[in-house]
Amino acid sequence: MRVRHQLPRLAIIVLLLCSASAAFAFPSIARKTKLSCATCHSKVSGGVDLTDAGKAYKADNTKVPAASVAGSDYVGSNKCKMCHMKQHKAWGDTKHSKAFAALVSGDSTLQATQAGALGVKLTGSPATNDACLGCHTVGFKLGGYPPADTTKTASFVNVGCEMCHGPGSKHAAAEKADKKTFINIPTTDAMCKDCHTSAMSPKFAFETYKKTGVHVIPATP
Ligand code: HEC
Ligand code: HEC
Ligand code: HEC
Ligand code: HEC
Ligand code: HEC
Repeated sequence: MRVRHQLPRLAIIVLLLCSASAAFAFPSIARKTKLSCATCHSKVSGGVDLTDAGKAYKADNTKVPAASVAGSDYVGSNKCKMCHMKQHKAWGDTKHSKAFAALVSGDSTLQATQAGALGVKLTGSPATNDACLGCHTVGFKLGGYPPADTTKTASFVNVGCEMCHGPGSKHAAAEKADKKTFINIPTTDAMCKDCHTSAMSPKFAFETYKKTGVHVIPATP
């Protein structure tokens, strides 16, 4: 009797744990804690391997690390283009490369739907609304968008490279042999779901969305 009584409760706890771990992903924790990715992640651009401080935070999110560790900065998608022309071109064919236009000149019905799902009241342009910018630009309020030098704005709008790979200044500057240690390749859906939340993207499914959302380079013979 007792056991049966507790089963639904257990199911609720499991559900809560699952949604908590989805809310764990990138880079909302950085925005919430105001700490660099390197504070909690072994790679300066995030990923699955956590530092001791990151592990403690994962076990108990009231254990916010006391100080930030010097990390990598957002440099914008044009910087990546210098060395990754093919990926940049393929990314240009995905909707991510046009995500800022959805705020500037997007369908007003869709904008209203998204605002409603977020519980946000739209006054003025969504392109100046903090509630919208986090998922439609690069590194919003994390040293990315809006850049101090406005000639660089184009590099920080849209869902750019660093929203999936993490901030890239150290990767861009590193010696070739060290480059991989400074950049993340997302392998799970956790990172996508930081933006593709159930409210904003109810149809999201990693395997199908990956096919059109991630730049794919045609195999070179
Ligand atoms: C206060 C600690 C903390 C900070 C700061 C932080 N993260 Fe995380 N991050 C975590 C934890 C904890 C997880 C969940 C790991 C897990 O569930 O295994 C996570 C998960 C992630 C994941 C998903 C890992 C996967 O499954 O592929 C990515 C990507 C990520 N973070 C990137 C970043 C980036 C980029 C930054 C900086 C802009 C950042 N994080 C800042 C603690 C942090
Ligand atoms: C100065 C040239 C240069 C710039 C700028 C640059 N990269 Fe790279 N990147 C490289 C090289 C070279 C490699 C291959 C390293 C290797 O094979 O060890 C690489 C590898 C990568 C990888 C694969 C890592 C792996 O584990 O296989 C990713 C992802 C990546 N870069 C993303 C980016 C992003 C995002 C930016 C912009 C923030 C960027 N790169 C900027 C030169 C650059
Ligand atoms: C920084 C936030 C963010 C991250 C991270 C992100 N996305 Fe997106 N994604 C968006 C936004 C915003 C749009 C809408 C762009 C538009 O249509 O203007 C979008 C659109 C898409 C679409 C097009 C959907 C359609 O209706 O046609 C696909 C597919 C997609 N994303 C897949 C992914 C996958 C897979 C990942 C993880 C590997 C990912 N996204 C990570 C924000 C994000
Ligand atoms: C938590 C991240 C997030 C926030 C915050 C967010 N969006 Fe989005 N938005 C997305 C994702 C993800 C998609 C793609 C959904 C899909 O197709 O599955 C999207 C799609 C859209 C689209 C449809 C683009 C198209 O043409 O297909 C519009 C318009 C839009 N968002 C406007 C807004 C507005 C307005 C706000 C602020 C009120 C906002 N978004 C806040 C993540 C976000
Ligand atoms: C929506 C998330 C997302 C965005 C945005 C994104 N990437 Fe990637 N990238 C990935 C994923 C996922 C992989 C791994 C693909 C695989 O292994 O199938 C990857 C792989 C790579 C690689 C490794 C080699 C390769 O082509 O597989 C490089 C280099 C790279 N990305 C650079 C970039 C650059 C440069 C940009 C911006 C122009 C960018 N990425 C934007 C998700 C993203």
